[in-house]
Amino acid sequence: MTQPQSTISKKSGSISLRHYVAGSIVTLLALLIGVALSSRNTHAPSVQEYYSLMESRIGYWLILGNTRHCGLYPKGQLLPFPISKAHRAMEKKLHARLSLPAGSRVLDAGAGSGHVAMYMARQGIRVQAIDITPHHIVDARRTVEKNGLGDWIQVAEGDYHDLSAFSDSSFDGIYTMETFVHADDPKKALAEFWRVLKPGGVLVMHEGDFNRDSEKLRDVLRLSHCGNTLREGQYRELITKTGFVDYDLEDLSDQVLPLWRFFGVLGYIPYKVLRVFGLQDRAINVMAGVETWLNWKDGRYISVRAVKPQ
Ligand SMILES: C[S@@+](CC[C@H](N)C(=O)[O-])C[C@H]1O[C@@H](n2cnc3c(N)ncnc32)[C@H](O)[C@@H]1O
Repeated sequence: MTQPQSTISKKSGSISLRHYVAGSIVTLLALLIGVALSSRNTHAPSVQEYYSLMESRIGYWLILGNTRHCGLYPKGQLLPFPISKAHRAMEKKLHARLSLPAGSRVLDAGAGSGHVAMYMARQGIRVQAIDITPHHIVDARRTVEKNGLGDWIQVAEGDYHDLSAFSDSSFDGIYTMETFVHADDPKKALAEFWRVLKPGGVLVMHEGDFNRDSEKLRDVLRLSHCGNTLREGQYRELITKTGFVDYDLEDLSDQVLPLWRFFGVLGYIPYKVLRVFGLQDRAINVMAGVETWLNWKDGRYISVRAVKPQ
């Protein structure tokens, strides 16, 4: 197979500031309509319920182009634009952390609409993408085909807690891009990652590492199905207990701040208004944006890398 060429950056880089502002305003309007129509959200939604909310669908589509992860920025940058450039920078970082040669086969555990997988494929990596949310799978298949990457990326519906569809030692690498935060049983998922990785295989996780006991973030974590997120700092313990070696952690919090600051500023007034009426939990993404920004010290953004020994 000839290595696919990188073609998206020019196109996506041309998205203007006007696009983001218009997108953000439409998102807020959709959100207010959603709030008016919805009932009080007192339960803990499943992953699929969270991603199926009108607010999630519209927000991720309009503001993030359905790439559902943070952008990576130079330290000290104030504004998050262009967001697509920062998305590609984060994917580049993950690819560098995997440090696998072209031709390697990796598992994208929680692939969303497939944008990370497409970045990997363009570097000559073969990707098995799985996701638990049906409409993300439909979107990933369509996007992968549209970009002519069908020979490089297989897309399947699946839960990373149960990888029985894949045999032992079948991947050179596994990555999670902001999806392990949703794990109901992190130990079980890691045991599965271990099983399907080849000896010498690499695991890289780009994740939020929140303080689960944070009073301020409790509702955000519950409503976005991150309620079982690890205790802050627990990654090392869990990953090394699974048997992985060469554990390495990079704290990227400063480099993801511009986008969260943008969400925080954009959502601040609508969020405060909703709070006055006790309606804030009907707008989980606005709540997450504002509360995460206001309580930045109650979490961090990390890149974790570990290796299954030979
Ligand atoms: C924040 S999005 C990230 C998507 C993608 N990695 C990206 O960066 O665009 C999290 C994704 O993880 C998926 N997910 C959550 N729990 C999962 C599980 N147990 N198994 C597979 N996918 C899961 C969700 O459906 C969602 O698509």
